[in-house]
Amino acid sequence: MELATDMTNTPFPGFSDKEKTAATVVGSAKESSRKTVGEPFIDNPRMTCRSVDVFYGDAQAIKNVSIDVGRNEVLAMIGPSGCGKSTFLRCLNRMNDTVASCRVEGEIRLDDMDIYDPKVDVVPLRARVGMVFQKPNPFPKSIFDNIAYGPKIHGLTSNKAELAEIVETALTRAGLWSEVKDRLHAPGTGLSGGQQQRLCIARAIAVSPEVILMDEPCSALDPIATAKVEELIAELRQQFSIVIVTHAMQQASRVSQRTAYFHLGDLIEVGPTDRVFTNPRHQLTEDYITGRFG
Ligand SMILES: Nc1ncnc2c1ncn2[C@@H]1O[C@H](COP(=O)(O)OP(=O)(O)OP(=O)(O)O)[C@@H](O)[C@H]1O
Ligand SMILES: [Mg+2]
Repeated sequence: MELATDMTNTPFPGFSDKEKTAATVVGSAKESSRKTVGEPFIDNPRMTCRSVDVFYGDAQAIKNVSIDVGRNEVLAMIGPSGCGKSTFLRCLNRMNDTVASCRVEGEIRLDDMDIYDPKVDVVPLRARVGMVFQKPNPFPKSIFDNIAYGPKIHGLTSNKAELAEIVETALTRAGLWSEVKDRLHAPGTGLSGGQQQRLCIARAIAVSPEVILMDEPCSALDPIATAKVEELIAELRQQFSIVIVTHAMQQASRVSQRTAYFHLGDLIEVGPTDRVFTNPRHQLTEDYITGRFG
């Protein structure tokens, strides 16, 4: 499988010794501690997360997680239910801000911007780091307006013809244009589940994001709709970074270049997807992917 970035020679350039030790690469004996093993850091990342802790009230859901998100890569997050995948994903565009009891510590950067800097406006941030949820959630508006809404509020265009072009391009890229071009003014909620999910992906890409977060985007879809979304993910990677949470390990291995395994709030292992699935370095990863746990 193709790797987004060469991580072989300088695994942790530009990071402190503390960060490097946190990501110690171990040999063939399976690691059993809770330090992240593998290659969480890469060259020229799109996003960097350092020592991220997340609490809901007093309960800690994410523990000292450090990882990079590469450019033009699909990063899969896997792990047993309740291990913190959705919580961590939501940190990447401050979606956890909407949960009153939730507190995020540590540092998350998008390019050079500290996204938790109080000066950061979350509305444009969420356009740059878009999100697609498990259950398709079209706005109660027409297909056209579902896509046009974002570009309008973010001031990407003031011109009707240009807006129509943005809508057509986003729907075409999402593989939906031919199915909806004759009913653009029908409600988005009238589409099939798989079409609605592609509509939501089109809505996310219409504002030209840099990163798209997807939380189990195919779990409500049949195999044909799933295959379409997976093809779309492969195509979108040419332009965007994608972080996808999935329970389907086959899906992780089909769509992603890197895989991160979470367990009870710890980031246990990160590495090239091929390697993580064929030769996991941590005992917990091995137990999970071989079906002994989770
Ligand atoms: N809004 C919330 N308030 C309080 N606790 C929460 C909240 N959301 C999640 N948690 C807790 O945080 C932990 C991680 O949950 P999270 O939803 O991130 O797990 P997950 O890995 O996405 O699980 P799943 O695979 O079932 O979706 C769990 O213990 C969960 O109960
Ligand atoms: Mg979840």
